[in-house]
Amino acid sequence: MTVNWIQTPHTRASDLEVSHDGIPPGKEAIYAQEPVLSARNLVITFGRVVGLDGVDLDLYPGEVLAVIGDNGAGKSTLIKCLTGAYVPNSGTITMNGREVSFKKPQDAREAGIETVYQQLAVIPALDIASNLYLAREDRRKGPLGSIFRMLDKKGMERRAGEAVQNLGIQTIQNMGQAVETLSGGQRQAVAVARAAAFGSKVVVLDEPTAALGVKESGMVLDMIKQLRDKGLSIILVSHNMPHVWEVADRIHIQRLGGRAGVITPESHDMGEGVAIMTGAKKLGGTATPAAEAPRADAVHEGSRGSEGTRAGHVEDAPADRGDRP
Ligand SMILES: Nc1ncnc2c1ncn2[C@@H]1O[C@H](COP(=O)(O)OP(=O)(O)OP(=O)(O)O)[C@@H](O)[C@H]1O
Ligand SMILES: [Mg+2]
Repeated sequence: MTVNWIQTPHTRASDLEVSHDGIPPGKEAIYAQEPVLSARNLVITFGRVVGLDGVDLDLYPGEVLAVIGDNGAGKSTLIKCLTGAYVPNSGTITMNGREVSFKKPQDAREAGIETVYQQLAVIPALDIASNLYLAREDRRKGPLGSIFRMLDKKGMERRAGEAVQNLGIQTIQNMGQAVETLSGGQRQAVAVARAAAFGSKVVVLDEPTAALGVKESGMVLDMIKQLRDKGLSIILVSHNMPHVWEVADRIHIQRLGGRAGVITPESHDMGEGVAIMTGAKKLGGTATPAAEAPRADAVHEGSRGSEGTRAGHVEDAPADRGDRP
């Protein structure tokens, strides 16, 4: 089901819910750091369709931030804006506190952000090694590479093999095999392996397990944990709630183009998360203006940054508020 929604004056997404960020217990040190990636008030429209309506996002070093939301809630649009695939109409994006302006995915890649988009960015006719090294081919050492621009094909195949091996995808044996001959799940695995091998700061995965079987999904989740343990930050967009609750440190809930709030697997169970996502419940609690909050509460702000709360709780939403136009 894909639901498009068109904004009317009565349905500002940011007015729908009070927002709330949670700091996972025992992980306060992570959240005392400066975010590796931050977005403030991102807006993007496609004609009359509002893709994002003033979205904030914070990604901290060494955390897995899940992004959940209904079809059409703006998850893919959000990560495309963060990674240079879309240029937002307005809003700011910072990396380690410095404003960045990515005009294309290559700009984000050069800044250390690797992305696996929902619509897979592999070239079917190329082999696995070439796909892994797309747009960053290794040249041979010495004049053969620098003057004759010869590619280090053997080296790329070996390293590609290592990357796939690290991910534990045993079903792929020949790195020279054309990607078009792989199964959907194996293609997805190649894309994830590429992001894992090259992401130096941030790895963004939009539905990485959607096409995967149980075993391969488990491997991707393990890889996400390994990347986090290496200190990388991961944004994981997923409809799979058990996966999200298994690996996420925090969960950004996207709804109707806005951020409905941020919860943690400890603060809310899956049912509550889904209820917030669909508008059946809203996050509530004692509002703490972000400007007056101490540093630890600074991440407790919502899309509009004014209604953060530490002691947030879930309330039934008034019936008319959750409806899409
Ligand atoms: N290039 C585009 N042109 C027009 N509308 C777009 C474009 N990209 C996104 N949209 C619209 O923006 C809204 C958000 O779409 P988006 O793909 O971000 O949703 P999503 O949360 O990723 O959904 P899903 O769970 O189905 O992947 C939708 O209404 C969609 O139709
Ligand atoms: Mg999407």
